[in-house]
Amino acid sequence: MPHRTLTRLRDKYGQVIWLRLGSLNTMAILSTKAAAEFFKNHDLSFAERNITETMRAHDYHKSSVALTPYGSYWRVLRRLVTVDMLVNKRINETAYIRRKCIGNMLQWIEDEASKIQGESNRNGIHVARFVFLLTFNLLGNLMLSRDLLDPDSKEGSEFFVVMSRLMDLSGKGNIADFFPWLKWLDPQGLKRKTTKDLGKAIGIASKFVKQRREDKRLSDNNKRDFLDLLLEFEGNGKDEPAKFSDQENIFILELFMAGSETTSSTVEWAFTELLCNPESMIKVKAELSRVVGPNKRVEENDVQKLHYLNAVIKETFRLHPPLPFLVPRRALQDTEFMGYHIPQNTQVLVNAWAIGRDPEVWDDPLSFKPERFMGSKIDYKGQNYELIPFGAGRRM
Ligand code: HEM
Repeated sequence: MPHRTLTRLRDKYGQVIWLRLGSLNTMAILSTKAAAEFFKNHDLSFAERNITETMRAHDYHKSSVALTPYGSYWRVLRRLVTVDMLVNKRINETAYIRRKCIGNMLQWIEDEASKIQGESNRNGIHVARFVFLLTFNLLGNLMLSRDLLDPDSKEGSEFFVVMSRLMDLSGKGNIADFFPWLKWLDPQGLKRKTTKDLGKAIGIASKFVKQRREDKRLSDNNKRDFLDLLLEFEGNGKDEPAKFSDQENIFILELFMAGSETTSSTVEWAFTELLCNPESMIKVKAELSRVVGPNKRVEENDVQKLHYLNAVIKETFRLHPPLPFLVPRRALQDTEFMGYHIPQNTQVLVNAWAIGRDPEVWDDPLSFKPERFMGSKIDYKGQNYELIPFGAGRRM
């Protein structure tokens, strides 16, 4: 695991490490102090992304919010995500969708439990798989008003399979990114596989979009979803598009990739830590019975009263940030950083995993202790550089 290897190098080489990976200059940031300097004073100089070879398949990088250059097109896309999906009012309006999807997941788990009950060599239930299905289904409902996991939806299950494969491919390191003369050979076949699966995914997404264009439904304002918003978009036609043509397909795919595994792996780690730390589990259960009541389902407005559970989530993010290097940044031009000369196009890996275990700021950093956050103001919203699972600065 490269984030672990780099963390081990911190003691020997310090909080900022310079690496030359093939032809790719790379700077790794390994401490809270260096991360604070980076985000507070140099965020703009590193506001762009390094585009890898597979991200160029079907020109994905040109329509992606995470990869598009920091500028007016990026602002348009960001506004759409923040205004439609993440603003408080919208989050409240869509609570019923999350309640429904969580209900479905509980039902799947119960069904699986009764299926394996009579089996002699039971292996248990792989809860993490159901949590992943939940996050995927949730995004399908929030963005497209579609139950993609409905067994009757052939397109939905095809979409799920192909998107799962793409997420898997996106996590693989590609040797051609470090030795560009190997691009033509594509030695691991990653570009070829990505091009094939991305092509399929775009095809399915464009069918969803086409159907919606023909339907022109969801006129009820409260029921408008993210796809409606994309189709209704009207830009100035100068520094932003007048309308989206095909970009919306990639935009939709990207939110599935950005939002599903990050969320489900956090839940999986939280469960794993609670199972390995029974005292914390007892405290979580006691808090749930006190605040919510025994045998009642947790509702979203309970969450802010569940202080210990919130501390468990923060502690999980501290030890297991789903994107240990965040989404790598790139130097826009030659820059000075903490006394070093950083050439243009240097890739920057901010090692959130190392920072969450930084012995300079965390007491007993390797232990799972949610108590450290009780009564503490430290949060993961990008202001406290010791806890940055979502990154910080402009691209957060
Ligand atoms: C546990 C959940 C999540 C974690 C830990 C996470 C983490 C991150 C990180 C580290 C970045 C890079 C920030 C930077 O460069 O400073 C990022 C970017 C992004 N995330 Fe998430 N994310 C999560 C969930 C989501 C969800 C649910 C969505 C939407 C459905 C989403 C959409 C995005 C987008 C669009 C970007 C690109 C932003 C940009 O480049 O301007 N993420 N996320």
